[in-house]
Amino acid sequence: PAVEFELDAPFSIEYRASVGSTNDRARELATEGAADIAVLADEQTGGRGRLEREWAAPAGGVWLSVVTRPAIAPAQAPLYTLAASIATATAAREAGIDARIKWPNDVVVPVGDDGDYRKLAGILTEMEGETDRVEWLVVGIGVNANIDADRLPEGATSVREEAGDVDRRRFVQRLLEEFDRYRGDLEAVVPAWRDLALTLGQRVRVDRPAGEVVGEAVDVAASGALVVEVESDDGDENETVTVSAGDC
Ligand code: BTN
Repeated sequence: PAVEFELDAPFSIEYRASVGSTNDRARELATEGAADIAVLADEQTGGRGRLEREWAAPAGGVWLSVVTRPAIAPAQAPLYTLAASIATATAAREAGIDARIKWPNDVVVPVGDDGDYRKLAGILTEMEGETDRVEWLVVGIGVNANIDADRLPEGATSVREEAGDVDRRRFVQRLLEEFDRYRGDLEAVVPAWRDLALTLGQRVRVDRPAGEVVGEAVDVAASGALVVEVESDDGDENETVTVSAGDC
């Protein structure tokens, strides 16, 4: 079943009232050779989050997975994830929410001035390809849109909670338009990320595969990696560590 969208972006939409995971459906489409299609569901029964977590996806959310076949190397894929975060934050800001991005790609709403936040949306990017070339990317975007507080996980918020219900078609339309804009202009991604970043200037603790890094987040590298300044124990100059994968 198709939903009619007036999209100023070259994506077609496959709509499902209920699906296990839009990322799984998008992966099927990608494997069949599809490109520039987005799978959208009202509800997911097996939503997946980063780091093999479950992702609660009740009716009323925006559960969306975009299939693209970009001519990039896998090392550039994080820029697509950041582009999706920027697009999501922009659509949320247009809905009247002070949405920011917490590295690597959570879209959050600050609570007070101490760096506290509630999570509004998350991104799960999956890819297939060789070491030097991406074959396809599935960028899964989950936005707690028109969802009551009592259906949200701990530490989360929703568009309904922050600003009242949103027209989800309009929200998806703006999100995809912005995503399309940034994927076509990857050099604009990191500057836009900086403008929306919650993490910069903050003390962070990053769990990464190679071990924990604690310090001040000072920048995002051109690749999308987080640059952390780590205080040295012996009073020498601070050391800068670039973290490309992890969670903080
Ligand atoms: C995270 O852990 O923050 C990422 C959450 C990603 C959730 C979205 S909802 C649409 C797509 N389908 C899924 O199963 N996951 C992503």
